[in-house]
Amino acid sequence: MAIMARVLVVDDEPKLGRFVAEMLELDGHEVARAGSGREALGLLAARAFDVVVTDLRMPEVDGLEVLRAARALPTPPEVVLMTAHGTAESAVAAMKAGAADYVLKPFAMDELRLRVGRLATSRTAEARSAALLDRLTPDLVAESPAMKAVLAAARQVAPTDATVLLTGESGTGKSQLARFLHYQGRRAGGPLVEVHCAALPETLLEGELFGHEKGAFTGAVARKQGHLAAADRGTLFLDEIGEVTPATQVKLLRFLQERTFVPLGATEARSVDVRVISATNRDLAAAVKAGAFREDFLYRLNVFEIAVPPLRARREDVLPLAARFLSSRGIPAERLSAPARDRLLAHAWPGNVRELENALERATILAGQGEIRPEHLPGNAAIPTGRGPELLGEGFSLDHHERALIHAALERAGGNKTLAARLLGVTRRRLYSLLASHDSRDPDDRDD
Ligand SMILES: Nc1ncnc2c1ncn2[C@@H]1O[C@H](COP(=O)(O)OP(=O)(O)OP(=O)(O)O)[C@@H](O)[C@H]1O
Ligand SMILES: [Mg+2]
Repeated sequence: MAIMARVLVVDDEPKLGRFVAEMLELDGHEVARAGSGREALGLLAARAFDVVVTDLRMPEVDGLEVLRAARALPTPPEVVLMTAHGTAESAVAAMKAGAADYVLKPFAMDELRLRVGRLATSRTAEARSAALLDRLTPDLVAESPAMKAVLAAARQVAPTDATVLLTGESGTGKSQLARFLHYQGRRAGGPLVEVHCAALPETLLEGELFGHEKGAFTGAVARKQGHLAAADRGTLFLDEIGEVTPATQVKLLRFLQERTFVPLGATEARSVDVRVISATNRDLAAAVKAGAFREDFLYRLNVFEIAVPPLRARREDVLPLAARFLSSRGIPAERLSAPARDRLLAHAWPGNVRELENALERATILAGQGEIRPEHLPGNAAIPTGRGPELLGEGFSLDHHERALIHAALERAGGNKTLAARLLGVTRRRLYSLLASHDSRDPDDRDD
């Protein structure tokens, strides 16, 4: 199947111009005609073309000028020059000036059709793959200075093969940023393999990463290719790298140093061409000090570190993120009432962008078709300062409020205790002990 292109045919001989245009139209192209170089310049300025087929010799504005004007456009079309016998040298000069092709007049029409068709195909294929990569690249909201700096750093490092470590709290956008780095880099056409290092126990993780031979361990009934091999010529994203055990750290360190690895049960090392991006919400420098993380491994991982700031450190992103989320659900941003916006801005978002998205998801359900109001949003888990006095009253019990707060936090965190603890501003250990102490008491028990 021929691919359709938008073609401009420029010839000061009307008969030939019409003939060429009709033929190209028969091939399915969308063709416009200009009877002079000047007319062509006007059309080029007004409309987008994929291919320009122009006569070289024309009075006033000649084919070379049309070529120059075309090449100067933001998205320059491909230019094919038609030239009479005996002017082949100027055609060669035109090629040097950026023409894609030329045909000698009188030419076989088939030859011209073939060339235009070929240009149209490669051009659309190119545009398609560029458009596809653009679609796959996450479109990250970055209105705050802090997030703009993150994106600028990401843009700088994306086209290199440098090993990148993404640090930041849970839900700040590290995984999205890893995808951004891959699809904006030169490995975009290759695989992106994401591995969640925390999800598996050590031996399984190693099998997944390095692959194994048949019979390498009980249950290894067949040979298995690992993630490292699968990521060849692409990017390996090691998520939650802080959870990797010391034994696996050693193996990954070797891989980072030499880009070779030995599948479990194999005798020979394999080598692959892989770029490594990793992410963690842990303070790895502290883990190194505590002896839980190898310093040499960290040193290899953070060749280039991007620290993604928490949402509370970039308030300018909150409303644009909310608007983006709502519009992705087909909800106009105006449905968010002004007091609701204030509530969003006042909240600390300990769960970061993910918490914001969850809160909005819930709010859109609660609000139905109406506008989103503050009561649809979280923020009730914490008692706003100043409300203390009205809460004091008959039947007041600190215990009761504590219980209610913990309950609200757990509910809002979807049962995630780490997040709930953060919402309450306490450590996880403290949350556990609070839960234990409340469990051991009846809700209506009063301490006296
Ligand atoms: N700048 C941003 N613009 C738009 N959406 C974002 C942005 N940052 C994060 N998100 C969205 O927020 C959610 C959480 O992001 P992501 O999963 O990348 O966070 P994370 O830092 O990898 O979290 P975790 O540490 O829990 O893995 C995703 O739905 C993501 O699309
Ligand atoms: Mg993630």
